[in-house]
Amino acid sequence: MATSPLRAEELERELEQLLGRDVFPPPQEFRARALVRDDTPWREAERDPVGWWERQARELLEWSEPWQRALDDSNPPFYRWFVGGRLNACYNALDRHVAAGRGDRVAFHWRGEEGEERAVTYAELLHDAERLATVLRERGIAPGDVVGIYLPMIPEVAVAMLACARIGAVHNVVFGGFSVEALRDRLHFSNAKALICADGARRKGRKVAVKAGVDRILDDLPALRTVICVRHTGEAAPMRPDRDLWWHEALRAAGPTPAEPFDAEHPLFVLYTSGSTAKPKGVLHTTGGYLTGVAWTPRHVFDLRDDDIYWCTADVGWVTGHSYIVYGPLLAGATSVMYEGAPDYPDKDVWWEICARYGVTIFYTAPTAIRTCMKWGPEYPLRHDLSALRLLGSVGEPINPKAWLWYWRVIGGGRCPIVDTWWQTETGHILIAPLPGVTPLKPGSATRPLPGIDAAVVDDAGREVEPGQQGYLVLRRPWPGMLRTLYKDPERFVETYFSRFGRETYFVGDAARRDEEGYFWVVGRVDDVVNVSGHRLSTAEVESAIVAHPKVAEAAVIGQADERTGQAICAFVTVEAGVEPDERLADEIRAGVAERIGKLARPARIIWANDLPKTRSGKIMRRLLRDIAEGRALGDVTTLRDPAVIEQLEAKVRELRAAERS
Ligand code: WT7
Repeated sequence: MATSPLRAEELERELEQLLGRDVFPPPQEFRARALVRDDTPWREAERDPVGWWERQARELLEWSEPWQRALDDSNPPFYRWFVGGRLNACYNALDRHVAAGRGDRVAFHWRGEEGEERAVTYAELLHDAERLATVLRERGIAPGDVVGIYLPMIPEVAVAMLACARIGAVHNVVFGGFSVEALRDRLHFSNAKALICADGARRKGRKVAVKAGVDRILDDLPALRTVICVRHTGEAAPMRPDRDLWWHEALRAAGPTPAEPFDAEHPLFVLYTSGSTAKPKGVLHTTGGYLTGVAWTPRHVFDLRDDDIYWCTADVGWVTGHSYIVYGPLLAGATSVMYEGAPDYPDKDVWWEICARYGVTIFYTAPTAIRTCMKWGPEYPLRHDLSALRLLGSVGEPINPKAWLWYWRVIGGGRCPIVDTWWQTETGHILIAPLPGVTPLKPGSATRPLPGIDAAVVDDAGREVEPGQQGYLVLRRPWPGMLRTLYKDPERFVETYFSRFGRETYFVGDAARRDEEGYFWVVGRVDDVVNVSGHRLSTAEVESAIVAHPKVAEAAVIGQADERTGQAICAFVTVEAGVEPDERLADEIRAGVAERIGKLARPARIIWANDLPKTRSGKIMRRLLRDIAEGRALGDVTTLRDPAVIEQLEAKVRELRAAERS
């Protein structure tokens, strides 16, 4: 089904025309059989929000003991949901489906980078989770202990998470793209007692050793006494017999461990995310509330049902993977695709080939991926039959209308609603998104808060702003899936989220507008967090990785608007006296950032500065740096200590621009 050049031209014209359209009602055919077709959920939830969540928790999950109280809000912001209730997350994700005779159902159609396929059923996942739970327990892992997981996109990652949940251990998944040094910090902060990793990982035809790298940091982690290693690529993996186990050997020798019910507020996982300081925040989620949120949203936002083939392209190392690759779909008993590789290997059509091959009906990805596909051109998706698709999702950053329309037209063929889903690591699950059979869509807006969610846009004083005005996005009512604290740091939890507007209003950290029809338009972060390709990074963390280079004196990092990645990391760097900055030093700086954090944090641009613009009290004026980097007129400069600094930087940026153009 190749496209002729003519079709590409037609497409251009069609997209031009679509740009003039503001509202897209739910496609007729979709609406006709959608699970939700009117505003009943919103009305019911408004009447009694807590009672409404209770109903979801009861209908969607199996509890071994009912709760006595749905919400304890006596000590905000330390809310407790489903108090006294008991359940097991792994049981809900696996055992109950198998017990209901659905063990042979495929949970994951796994696709490896070289095209290998594995269909993993619910019964198989359960079999392995039961045994891994035994292994962990035999190694002394007790309820509440933290287990690190550092794995590629293979079904074992879901088994590992669920085996932890089975015995009440708290998983701490670290994105495989983070360096081992970043892994060490996250394992150290959470005091992890065990680590599950792989011998190696693959990336576009290359293999890299993982276990051997991990070994370098283990001496720094005295609490970590067990490493369970999955044989994946066959890379050499040195094993220390008193500490290291091969996954396949350990599982073969182990019997099953039954799922044990835990308190609804028992911690389920910690996930480190970037904040305003260099130290990442350990977002802690608990069991009953989180599971309620991730069980409810796929059905209502994705219209997910039994005959769907669902694919979320995220990595499990991020919250999207936790909630919408592992817990959400498995709680629903869904069949998903899990793909290990890159979108352009072996060729730029691999995603669409996979969609056609498995008959994907629901596809969930990030705007940055859509923009990349746009750049590659429509010929890649048009090579494949995408007619099974019926719903498309977007997450991670605002989606620009042009990308939205391309997604709608080229991937969705104009038949699929696009659900732009706004949420965060902290919120646990989607909070602002359309219900696809009901909500008219506006390209670029995540539309309205889901039933039960009270979102608002406020000014500095916490007053709601007029429609169309920009302000701070806040959430004024607790919801079951919200984070409960920052791991071992309740002060920072209160300070970060519940100090700006009081202890009962969650401060999101995003700027937003709300239009006359109550649609939310998220603008971006208001703190020093950068969003690169939907990946959340802290400017302070990158800065501290840069200044670790002995030749660097000072660094200021900003997120610069970027057509493809949303934001790109731009670093202003001053060097020590006597150092001549050059490309080699830039390469060393980038390599240092890759080593300390991961390749994803490497600065796209490094600008050598004689000095950085500071206030008289010595604070770096990042706002001005952003203006300079994007070539905008400068905002207020009255507090600037030395205006000459600015001129030098502007000249540098002009030079860089010219060089980049030629
Ligand atoms: C930040 C959260 C949500 C899972 C992936 C990212 C931005 C996320 C949207 C969206 C506009 C969005 C926000 C948010 N964001 N989704 N649909 N529209 N912005 O999770 O790493 O915790 O980042 O991502 O700025 O605060 P995260």
